[in-house]
This record gives sequence, structure tokens and C-alpha cells, in this order.
Amino acid sequence: MKVIETSRLSLRLVALSDLENIHRLLYADPEVALPWTGHVQSLAEVSAPNGVLSMISRAADEPGLFAVERAADYALIGLAGILPIRRASDRARFVPASPADVPGSVEGRVEGELVVALGRAHWNRGYAAEAGTAVVTLGFGSLRYSRIVASVGSRNERGVKLLRRLGFRTEPNQRADPDTGSSVPGTLGFLDAPS
Ligand SMILES: CC(C)(COP(=O)(O)OP(=O)(O)OC[C@H]1O[C@@H](n2cnc3c(N)ncnc32)[C@H](O)[C@@H]1OP(=O)(O)O)[C@@H](O)C(=O)NCCC(=O)NCCS
Repeated sequence: MKVIETSRLSLRLVALSDLENIHRLLYADPEVALPWTGHVQSLAEVSAPNGVLSMISRAADEPGLFAVERAADYALIGLAGILPIRRASDRARFVPASPADVPGSVEGRVEGELVVALGRAHWNRGYAAEAGTAVVTLGFGSLRYSRIVASVGSRNERGVKLLRRLGFRTEPNQRADPDTGSSVPGTLGFLDAPS
């Protein structure tokens, strides 16, 4: 798949050789990892089965996850993408008010989950909205999703703001996400493909 260029960023398919940098930027830094996933992870943890490494490996076959680079110098600054929702455990994190919004509840609706995460040094410049817009466009375009969903933990105000900036309809989740280590429900986001 070709690289996606935005005005300040370049998104390319993520590769296994990105793992150490992605770990350092996103999973080893408590400021990024805690509001996002609820815990800091070691390089060994992200390399384990079901860890980030497996997500990166899958990206070679399912081109939905991108390394986000600054176009000026091609420095890696984070990850962005739309990932398929397949496992029951992924769906179980979403408890919306309306049963019709539960992922997998409408036959023929193809749903993907938004991922945007940037290293702390790259926040507050509009890069997340720029990368998010690019992957949403791709998601509704060549990836052919009919709906993009997102789940953000209760301590993640920046994540909620990003969803709203990208045009997602947001609502409270009806259950806490144990993955984020919070007992307080977070926020769900839904964005349908333009008709
Ligand atoms: C979620 C996350 C990506 C948001 O990052 P962010 O820096 O807040 O978002 P953006 O890059 O879009 O930047 C937006 C801010 O930059 C400001 N900004 C500064 N210069 C800007 C410019 N040139 N263009 C646009 N916005 C600019 C905006 O005003 C906005 O500030 P505000 O939030 O005070 O209104 C980041 O917090 C993160 O990586 N968190 C961990 C991962 C995560 O939780 N992801 C959840 C979604 S899947």
C-alpha cells in the first residue's frame, strides 16, 4: 500500500523494525500509556503474543495500521489506523445505550476501531487530528468500513476531544473498561461512512 501524505505527516505501513521506537514513544511513557491503556508495558510485554507486535505483524496482511512520521524529517512520532473488530473481547468493551450500536449487532455493517497514539513530545500541534482524518478517509475509502468506532478511557480527555474533532458522535460507555484499570466508564465514539 502506498504512503499517505498529509500536509505535515507521512503515514506508511507499520513494520516490525518500528517496534522498539513505538514501545519507547507510546508504551514505556506513563504520560501516554496510562490514560490510553491503563499501564506501562515493557518491551517484552509488547512483544508477547496478543501484544503490539502481533498487531504490527497482522498489519502486513491487513493494511490498517500505519507508522506516523513527520514529513519534514521522517521522524517516527506515533501510530494511527483502523483495525478490524473481530474478537468477542474487542466487542465486549463497547456497551452503548442503544443495542443497535453494539459492534456486530447489525448484519452487513463492517466496523473498524480507530487507533491514534502519538509520543508526548508531539501532542498539541494538531498532528493527531491530521493523522486521524487521513486514516478515517482511508477507512471509509479503500478499506470499505461502514462504521468506525472508538473507546476511550475515563481519564483520557485528549482522546475524547480528538474523537469530537474528527466528527465522531460520542456517548458514555455503560461499563468500565478493565483494560484501562479504571472503574469509571469512559466514552464511546461512532462515525458512519458518508452516504
Ligand atoms: C489522543 C492524542 C493522540 C491526542 O493528541 P493531541 O495532541 O491532544 O491532539 P492533536 O494533535 O489533534 O492536537 C490538538 C491540540 O493542538 C492544538 N494545536 C496547536 N497547533 C495546531 C495546529 N497547527 N493545527 C491544529 N491544532 C493545533 C489544538 O488547538 C488542540 O489543542 P486543544 O486540545 O487545547 O484544543 C494523544 O493524547 C495521545 O496520543 N494519547 C494516547 C493515545 C490515546 O489515548 N488515543 C485515544 C484515541 S484512539
